Amino acid sequence: MTPPRRALLAIATLFALTATLACGRERSYARDAIPAELATPVANAEVAMDALQQRLAARLGEALAQGGPAGAVTVCTDDAPKIASDVASEFGVAVGRTSHKLRNGANAPRPWLKPFVGAAMTEPLTGTTVVELEGKVGVVRPILTQARCLQCHGDSTAIAADVAVLLHRTYPEDRAVGFTEGQLRGFLWAEAPR
Ligand code: HEC
Repeated sequence: MTPPRRALLAIATLFALTATLACGRERSYARDAIPAELATPVANAEVAMDALQQRLAARLGEALAQGGPAGAVTVCTDDAPKIASDVASEFGVAVGRTSHKLRNGANAPRPWLKPFVGAAMTEPLTGTTVVELEGKVGVVRPILTQARCLQCHGDSTAIAADVAVLLHRTYPEDRAVGFTEGQLRGFLWAEAPR
């Protein structure tokens, strides 16, 4: 290839790349400012998110009552991912949880969630946000730390020794400790088809 052609090719590539980046930019909206055409998919996403949150809370309550925090760790490990996949297939909406301080690496943020996770320490999300994705709509909302969460996500004074051992064994890279009540623990998210 002659040098001028190579230069042209480089320019063309640059243009294509810029266009892709510009078109690929995701638009986001506060929940109460979404365009009308997103109302149905956002409502579908929220129904599934509510179901996930309610089922997780109920299962956690049961497990804590039955086996205390040590017993409940195993329940969380086994049941949390299963509850999310059940809700996803039932509602036809992908759902999950993520965090800026992850316990389970399998909950790592999808690309569109990274800005929210990245801003968690400086500008934590306070309300529900909607992101337009390719053929889908993404919905994300904050999960706050409650008192009962501290048994497994608090500091070393809140987590019993046997629970700490179990957590460390199951999640050697656990970063989801040291939280206080009311702090942002992570995010609940859903992706619904448009
Ligand atoms: C009995 C221990 C226990 C309690 C109590 C507990 N969690 Fe967890 N949490 C876990 C375990 C284990 C995981 C990893 C399982 C998974 O979701 O994959 C986890 C994962 C999470 C995640 C997913 C992100 C990540 O870091 O992997 C969030 C968000 C979360 N917990 C929030 C909470 C909140 C909010 C509460 C209180 C309502 C709470 N947890 C109470 C044990 C607990």
